[in-house]
Amino acid sequence: MTIREIITVPNPLLKTISEPVKVIDDEVLSLIDDMIETMYAAPGIGLAAIQVGVPKRILVIDIAREDEARNPLSFINPEIIDPSEILNSFEEGCLSVPGVFEEIERPDECTVKYLDKDGVEQSVRCKGMLATVIQHEMDHLNGVVFVDHLSKLKRDRAIKKSIKSRTSEKNNNE
Ligand code: NI
Repeated sequence: MTIREIITVPNPLLKTISEPVKVIDDEVLSLIDDMIETMYAAPGIGLAAIQVGVPKRILVIDIAREDEARNPLSFINPEIIDPSEILNSFEEGCLSVPGVFEEIERPDECTVKYLDKDGVEQSVRCKGMLATVIQHEMDHLNGVVFVDHLSKLKRDRAIKKSIKSRTSEKNNNE
């Protein structure tokens, strides 16, 4: 397994609409393994393939708490159906927008349909935190990052802040 480089805003690749996976072959399976390893190394709780520069509809998520065993979930060609009318807001962050955390409102529940690693169709009803993470990651497959849900003014400010936070980190390391 390899830790891959995570791309960050304003990299235009993040605006790519990812393509469905046609065949679940060794390349796809090793990409999923790499994504899981990259997510843990970051550390983060979710990652979309486009965040490592691969425009395929694949997500990995692990929302287990630190004191719980790891529980990596992978979703191939995920689709969200039946979002609840009730909304909930969580403070979100993103490995592609480091240094920025903002409250984002999304449906509190949704169902995700996807293929598992064996190509078997699965469906799961998600609530709360998992519903938020799934929707956040799904956005990446459609070229959307979480700050795109903010007003233009707040979004521009957030992206500037993220770029600045990385520049100062680099300088501190030199
Ligand atoms: Ni993200």
